[in-house]
Amino acid sequence: MTDLQAPMQRSKLQNYNSPRGAEAYKADYRDKLHRRLSDKRERALLVRFLAEIGPVETILDLPCGHGRLSDLLGRHCRTLVEADWSFTMVSLNRGDHGDRGRRYCRASALEIPLPDRSVDVAVSFRLSHHLESQQLRERHLQELFRVARTAVVVTWFSATSLKNLLRELRVRLFGKARKNVLRNDRVREIAAACGFAQRRAQPLFRVGSGHVLGLFVRR
Ligand SMILES: C[S@@+](CC[C@H](N)C(=O)[O-])C[C@H]1O[C@@H](n2cnc3c(N)ncnc32)[C@H](O)[C@@H]1O
Repeated sequence: MTDLQAPMQRSKLQNYNSPRGAEAYKADYRDKLHRRLSDKRERALLVRFLAEIGPVETILDLPCGHGRLSDLLGRHCRTLVEADWSFTMVSLNRGDHGDRGRRYCRASALEIPLPDRSVDVAVSFRLSHHLESQQLRERHLQELFRVARTAVVVTWFSATSLKNLLRELRVRLFGKARKNVLRNDRVREIAAACGFAQRRAQPLFRVGSGHVLGLFVRR
C-alpha cells in the first residue's frame, strides 16, 4: 500500500478496512443524533444539487463507504459506480444495495482507475478532511475533475469556517492538532484550472461543522 494510494492515517484506514470499524461507521448513522442530523442535511443539499444537474447515465461515488448515499444517488442515474479503498466497506455496501444498476470496485480516490471524462458526475463525501497534506487534498479534487464529464459534488473542511477558526485558536493556545482544511478560493482555483466553475458552495452547518458541500459544473 503506497502513501499515494492510502494516505489516511494508518490506524484510521485499518479501522475502515476492518469489519468492526465499517459496521461501527454504519451504526453511527443509525444511532447517533449528530450523525443523523448531518446525514439529513447532506441529503437535502445533495437532492438540490442533483436536481440542478438532472438525471444522468453514470455517477461515481468515491469513497462510497457502506453506501450511505447509494439509494439517493441510484435514483439519479442509470449506473452508479460505488468505489472505496476499503474492501469491507464495498462488500457491506454490495450486501445492502445489490447489483441492480450498480457496479462496485476497490479504488483509490487519489489515482482513480478511470479514463478522463468517463462518468457524468463524480461525488466525494467526507474524504478530503481525512487526507493529511494539502498536496493530497488538491490531488483528490483534480482526480474528481479529471474523470467527471459534467459535474462534481464534493465536500471539504473549510479553512475559513468558524469551527476551523476556533480550532486554530486552540492550536496556538494548547498545541492541538490542525484540521485538514482547504481554502474555498483555492478549491475554486483548482476547479477553474480543470475547466469547472463553482455553481454552489454550502456549509453543512454554520456552527458546529466546518464541512462545505460544493457543486461544480464543466464550463
Ligand atoms: C468518513 S468515510 C465516508 C464514506 C462515505 N462517503 C460517506 O459519506 O458515508 C471515509 C471513507 O473513505 C475511504 N477512504 C480512505 N482513504 C481512501 C482513498 N485514498 N481512496 C478511496 N477511499 C478512501 C474509507 O475506507 C472510508 O470508507
